Amino acid sequence: MKVLVGFYSRTGNTKKMAEAIAEGVEKQGLTVDLKDVNDITPDELLNYDALIFGSPTYYGLMAAEMKKLLDESVTHHGKLSGKIGGAFTSCGGIGGGAETTIFSILTAFLIHGMIIVGESGAYHYGPVSIGSPNERVLGSCTKYGQKIAIFAKKIFEG
Ligand SMILES: Cc1cc2nc3c(=O)[nH]c(=O)nc-3n(C[C@H](O)[C@H](O)[C@H](O)COP(=O)(O)O)c2cc1C
Repeated sequence: MKVLVGFYSRTGNTKKMAEAIAEGVEKQGLTVDLKDVNDITPDELLNYDALIFGSPTYYGLMAAEMKKLLDESVTHHGKLSGKIGGAFTSCGGIGGGAETTIFSILTAFLIHGMIIVGESGAYHYGPVSIGSPNERVLGSCTKYGQKIAIFAKKIFEG
């Protein structure tokens, strides 16, 4: 089973979150690729069972670089159906639009027919960091990666 952690990060905050999430996926024994969104082609998306995407919060939405890939993924519309999706973001401050950013990514995943996992504890929609992630946030990111991996195993392996 393969998981793609895709990120865009101009100043490194979202990238650190992505690394911690990938670590969590790996801890559950799944194969994980960690890639800058600029290095991901729409075709590659087909190779994964789960996509976990993170972007900095830019005006309350995902960065244009990530939107570009998702727009290009229309070439595979319908073929990503049934894959698992997750999202995370780093923002500038509380109330800065972190959740709308996460939803901008999850919205695209839902339109692709993907399965989204919620969280009853902290970070209901996906991990959020204000600026650079501290140890607590990094821990939540690792747990998020683990949670999605465990869910993927349940769904795809029974
Ligand atoms: C073009 C631009 C737009 C931004 N818009 C927001 C915003 O709407 N809300 C917010 O809280 N932070 C905003 N920020 C701050 C970034 O989300 C924040 O610095 C983030 O931690 C950067 O992540 P990175 O280090 O992965 O690039 C913006 C930054 C830039 C450059």
